[in-house]
Amino acid sequence: MSANVHINSSNVKYTDTHIVSQYSYQTTSVQRDGNKVTVTPRTTEMTFRTERRVPRLGVMLVGWGGNNGTTVTAAVLANKLGLTWRTNTGVKKANYYGSLLQASTVCLGTGVEGEVNVPICDLLPMVHPNDIVFDGWDISSMDLGRAMERAQVLDWSLQEQLRPHLSQMKPRPSIYIPDFIAANQESRADNVLTGSIAEQVEQVRADIRDFRQSSGVDKVIVLWTANTERFCDVIPGVNDKAKNLLAAIQAGAEVSPSTLFAVASILEGCAYINGSPQNTFVPGAIELAVQNGVFIGGDDFKSGQTKVKSVLVDFLVSSGIKPTSIVSYNHLGNNDGKNLSAPQQFRSKEISKSNVVDDMVHSNSILYQPGEKPDHCVVIKYVPRVGDSKRAMDEYTSEIMMGGTNTIAMHNTCEDSLLATPIMLDLVILTELCQRITVRPQGEEDFQSFHSVLALLSFLCKAPLVPSGTPVINAFFRQRAAIENIMRACLGLPPQSHMLLEHKLQ
Ligand code: NAI
Repeated sequence: MSANVHINSSNVKYTDTHIVSQYSYQTTSVQRDGNKVTVTPRTTEMTFRTERRVPRLGVMLVGWGGNNGTTVTAAVLANKLGLTWRTNTGVKKANYYGSLLQASTVCLGTGVEGEVNVPICDLLPMVHPNDIVFDGWDISSMDLGRAMERAQVLDWSLQEQLRPHLSQMKPRPSIYIPDFIAANQESRADNVLTGSIAEQVEQVRADIRDFRQSSGVDKVIVLWTANTERFCDVIPGVNDKAKNLLAAIQAGAEVSPSTLFAVASILEGCAYINGSPQNTFVPGAIELAVQNGVFIGGDDFKSGQTKVKSVLVDFLVSSGIKPTSIVSYNHLGNNDGKNLSAPQQFRSKEISKSNVVDDMVHSNSILYQPGEKPDHCVVIKYVPRVGDSKRAMDEYTSEIMMGGTNTIAMHNTCEDSLLATPIMLDLVILTELCQRITVRPQGEEDFQSFHSVLALLSFLCKAPLVPSGTPVINAFFRQRAAIENIMRACLGLPPQSHMLLEHKLQ
């Protein structure tokens, strides 16, 4: 049930246009000298300001005709139309399960009737997924109705209801550089831009402007959900600086399509999120985003196996148990699996999946010596028969007390795109919200935005992109707490401490 949350505090002011909160941000400065650790608490007074007007949001998907692209578009439409459909287990109703913002709750405290939990999306004014307008590009010309059928994700009777709407939608021609994705994708590529690389980037920019104008949306966010590309080399003079990257595009040097889309979006002032594992955000692209004050986020949707890993290793290490090996097998039969069956594209995914336990391992010097980490192996195989219904099998071996061994094995089966879809929605809605939040630390004149590299999206990404020199957090509950507590700060509420002292004293 949705809630109308109002904060009753002199620290919070609701104006016609903004929610303004006064907030004491408490941190520590820590000095370590041998085994002596000195901790000094610090408090910074801050003003948070959140714009109340929720804009009409347009989302452009690169890879619109793929499994994720069609599923997110279909799912939003099904929710908007309030569709129901019958399967052999009964009547199903469209919903947003799996969305942090729409389907999970936060506890605001205790009232007379006990704990009061509200959906996260009710804390601050934010876009509702039903109101998002979609558009996008694909190298395959198939309309979204037929592409939904090709994806084999949604139940047939739901597809039949959606098809008349989806078949009106047709992806725009896209930038296709065959060398970046698997050779086995070539047969799909019948909807591609021509001309020089610079001309193609100009066309993508024109597409963004055209969509903004013709749909009447206030804001556009671009999300890469196209095939996983191979990594590109970071080359001094080519993609290491913003100006070099722009010059490389003019000169027709090798730049990946995902980076070309990033450049086009940034130059159009649109936030750009990378849902795949490749290194789209070369240093030049990051610098361009910072220079233009545009949000970028990524990389790689954290939907299934890696999400479990970021919970399970957090649980083990924070319980004082030492994971010594993590072995993950996947097999899947959708087009993503087909693309990942090529070695260079698999390598991008392997890298993205591999670093996910680093922060947890580094945090515990009782269990791990400097440089020590668990053996970590990731295998992905393409098995067409299983379609989008991905299998993930994991084995976690840990050392427990007195040299004992604990082995946890798990098997996870589900439609990959139905896990990715709510994450895609959370990514764009959270990014849009962040565009309306500004902060003024005490003593400073101006309100500032978050850093262009939007680290708050870490919860939703396998390999979180963070500003250079800042910590990468993978642990699930730390990532979630960051989102919840920043939203609470916007409302002048202290971080959720879970102390429950009011119930623990005499
Ligand atoms: P898909 O293969 O069904 O869809 C990708 C689409 O991108 C295809 O329609 C293809 O024609 C299109 N495409 C390829 N290159 C393009 C380009 N240069 N411009 C425009 N379109 C292009 O794959 P799916 O399952 O939708 O996944 C999409 C991406 O999301 C993959 O990279 C995958 O690794 C990533 N991802 C998916 C997750 C999930 O489904 N649970 C989780 C994490 C990441």
